[in-house]
Formats: sequence, C-alpha cells, structure tokens
Amino acid sequence: MPLVSMRQLLDEAAKGGYGVGAFNVNNMEQIQSIMEAARETQSPVIIQASRGARAYSQDRFLYHLMLAATEIYPEIPTVLHLDHGNSPETCQSAIEMGFTSVMMDGSLMPDGKTPSTFEYNVEATRKVVEMAHAKGVTVEGEIGCLGGIEDGHGAGLDGLSHLTDPEQAVEFVKATGVDALAIAIGTSHGAYKFTSKPTGETLKMDRLIEIHKKLPNTHLVMHGSSSVPKDLQDIINQYGGKLKPTWGVPVEEIQLGIKNGVRKINVDTDNRLAITGAIRKVFMEKPEEFDPRSYLKPARDAMKKVVALRMTQFGQAGHAKDYAPTSLDEMAKRYQSETVTA
Ligand code: G3H
Ligand code: 13P
Ligand code: ZN
Repeated sequence: MPLVSMRQLLDEAAKGGYGVGAFNVNNMEQIQSIMEAARETQSPVIIQASRGARAYSQDRFLYHLMLAATEIYPEIPTVLHLDHGNSPETCQSAIEMGFTSVMMDGSLMPDGKTPSTFEYNVEATRKVVEMAHAKGVTVEGEIGCLGGIEDGHGAGLDGLSHLTDPEQAVEFVKATGVDALAIAIGTSHGAYKFTSKPTGETLKMDRLIEIHKKLPNTHLVMHGSSSVPKDLQDIINQYGGKLKPTWGVPVEEIQLGIKNGVRKINVDTDNRLAITGAIRKVFMEKPEEFDPRSYLKPARDAMKKVVALRMTQFGQAGHAKDYAPTSLDEMAKRYQSETVTA
C-alpha cells in the first residue's frame, strides 16, 4: 500500500474514538522499530520527520526508507508527516518529495523561535492548506506556542506562556481549513517538561476540553507528549548518563485527551531515551564490542517496545485493517468538492 493521507487516519481514529501516536524518525533503525511495533500491534502508523531530521538524513534517504517500509509492511496504513514546518516553502518541498501530510507551524516565525501574530499564522497556514489540499495532502496547524527550546521548536518560554485561546482556535480553523490542530496546554518539547508530576495548574487539560467543546469536529494534536518514564531515565543514569530528575505527560492525561478530541499524539523524547539507555548499557557492559549492530539492535528493540506500548495505550492497536486506503488523488477531489471539511 502506498503512503496514505493523515486525514483519513485521523477521521478513522475519530470514528473509532482512539488516538494515533506520531513518532519522530531520523534513520533506518527508528523506522524499523515503529513498523515492527505496528505489525505486532496491528496499528496504523504516523511517522514524522522534523526539519532537523530531513537535514540529518538528507531527506531523500529518509523518503526511500519510507517507501521500503510500505513494501515490507504493506498491510499497515502509513503516513509520512512533516513535523514543525517553519514556512510555506518548507512545506512545499516536503509535499514535492512525497510527504502525505505537513505541519505548518505558523505559531512561530520562520526562525522557529519567535512567537508570531495571529494574522501571520492564518496567512501562512492558509497558503499551505491551499497548496497541500490540491494534492490531497493533509495539513496540521498550530495555535498557541509550546514551551522549551532545547530542540529548537518552541518560544523558549515555559509551557504556560502562550496557551491556546479557545476563541482564537475556532477562528483559526475557520480561516485556514486545517485538517488537524495542535494546541498549547502546558507541554513542551524534550525531557524537561515538568519539575514534578503535572497537576491541573501545569498541564491544562481543562483548556483542551474547552477547545474540544468549541471545535467538536476538529482533530486535536498534542505535541510534547512524551511521558519521560522513570525507568528509562534510570537506565540512562545507571549506565553513566546524567539526566536530572524530570516528569513528562502521564499516559492517563493523554487518554483523557483522547476522550476529548485528541487524535494525534507526538512522541519523540521517550524513544530517544529508550535508544540511548540501550546503547549506554552495551557500552558499559561490553566495552570490547565495536560492531555497531551490537548496540543498534538492542536500541531498536528498546524503541520498538516503547512504541508498541504507546500504540496500545493510545488505542490505535488492532485498527490497521479497518479500512482501505483512499488515494491522495481521491482526497484532492474530496477537498475540491468540499466533502472533506475542517
Ligand atoms: O518537535 C520536536 C521533535 O522532537 C523533533 O526534534 O528538531 O531535534 O528533530 P528535532
Ligand atoms: P516530545 O519531546 O515530548 O517527545 O515531543 C515531540 C513532539 O512534539 C514532536 O513534534
Ligand atoms: Zn512538536
């Protein structure tokens, strides 16, 4: 099966009342981990690449790895999504390469740091929607800004400085026609999200519920959704790492989000932790090893375990064969005839 539209996956998830994890990749092993987890759990899949991932992998390599994934796992509906596109030009180059979904993150200026105006965000996102929908490609927008800058995506503030305004969210969806909407509710990218287990003061699930009530038909996206499990932190530190104590987003809060319109859940950090812990363990326990496979294989297995668990927790497990994929051409026709709306 060719790479599929993210809109179709999210529409199906809404029908079934479940969420779909969107996992970041930079290389072959990460793609393999996700696809193996998907086969084991029979899950539809969203694989996403940031601008950094595209640069690191020389994105044609990544694209062809994704084509290999569709050949090797033909039974798994698989989306290739651009994470945090910083400008319409970046989104355009991803669409030209064959990404089936793009995020236009107009909540920040093209530098990926400075919060933008609402007008800029609407204008840039609307432009991407027009260009993407003409090709049947899905668009995710973002309103409000996430915290954290350690990975270059975020306003450099704490997660609470630019929460999504529910009224603006409604206006934004109407003005742009996005397929999915990322909202800011107190999360941030990276490992250091919360200094203690989040409460309603730091993770604003009430805000999410309010937005969902105003936009009941919009697929909501939670970024910064790694749970940063203590056991993965401990493995890293046990084998020479130096992570400071930290808390992520508890899975039960994500599950509450899924009951309230969240259809896409972005996870990168948990997989980074799993990979790093597994590699550190081999380096410490078998210092005589120098074949990269001796540590990349355990790393791949560790990431697969995390992804399979999240797929089960988010509810996408068991849904890989629920539907036949709709081609991007057919999606383009549907956007044109407005049978698919925001
Ligand atoms: O949005 C952030 C993702 O974790 C990707 O991070 O830009 O370091 O690839 P990256
Ligand atoms: P984490 O850093 O919590 O994994 O978030 C990833 C993300 O939101 C990618 O867009
Ligand atoms: Zn993000």
